[in-house]
Amino acid sequence: MRNLDEETITQAVLARNVDMKDRRFKEIMTSLIQHLHAFAREVHLTEEEWAAGIQFLTDVGQTCSPTRQEFILLSDTLGLSTLVTAQNHRKPRGCTEATVFGPFYVDDAPDYELGADVGNGMAGEPCYVRGQVRSITGEAVPGARMEVWQADAEGFYDVQNPERTEAQGRGTLHADASGHYRFKTIVAECYPIPHDGPVGRMLDAMGRHPWRPAHLHFMISAPGYETLVTHVFRDSDTYLDSDTVFGVRSSLVADWIRHEAGTTPDGSQADKPFYTLDFDFVLNPASPSRAA
Ligand code: BEZ
Ligand code: FE
Repeated sequence: MRNLDEETITQAVLARNVDMKDRRFKEIMTSLIQHLHAFAREVHLTEEEWAAGIQFLTDVGQTCSPTRQEFILLSDTLGLSTLVTAQNHRKPRGCTEATVFGPFYVDDAPDYELGADVGNGMAGEPCYVRGQVRSITGEAVPGARMEVWQADAEGFYDVQNPERTEAQGRGTLHADASGHYRFKTIVAECYPIPHDGPVGRMLDAMGRHPWRPAHLHFMISAPGYETLVTHVFRDSDTYLDSDTVFGVRSSLVADWIRHEAGTTPDGSQADKPFYTLDFDFVLNPASPSRAA
């Protein structure tokens, strides 16, 4: 195949795909090539611009480390993560909605008893979180596994602190026999996503801020149910309508109630104000291909 030009190059590349064995991979690569070529044609991409694009992607890759996932930030800030989440988690009305996973989950968060302090010394105002995990028909989901994670009052996750020696602001709990859960933590605050790298520079060039509204992350799983990855957002946050990763859903916004010093939900006496958050989760039954 020779003498390819701007009219014939796309078909020539696609023609090379004939021996691709995996049908799904072939479908994805065919579409990706078509869309990439259409994009370059539509904007009439110059060589300098494409060189800058390659440099940007190189920088994104080189910024990644075991504790920094710049490609997730890129996907999230371009809205691709929210699109992929939304089209893979269509649920019946009444189920708790899913939202983006983000880059700060770790899979070995410590186990805690119900009522424990998952903040584990993290700086911030105390907050008591409680609720129930139910099915769409209202039955309790006993023993549901709940992983929670959040940033500290300064907006940093424990994994962003190279000096940390143990997990803070993250943990794994199991709901009780009636699906109820409770734990203590700190009040979530809004924070900017890491923006000292190529994605931050991209946001800046696009005239966008890097902030996320205050939220608490949950991943909830139980046999027979679709695993739920979601957040609960704090009502009246400045950034609810301009989340830099497009993750906010109205059904996930809740009241975090401030209380004056006094008796807390676990019966202890607080000498400073504290917060409570009540939030119930409704799980979607697993489809056969997604059984937990
Ligand atoms: C987060 O909420 O942890 C997060 C989500 C997307 C990008 C960065 C952070
Ligand atoms: Fe977060």
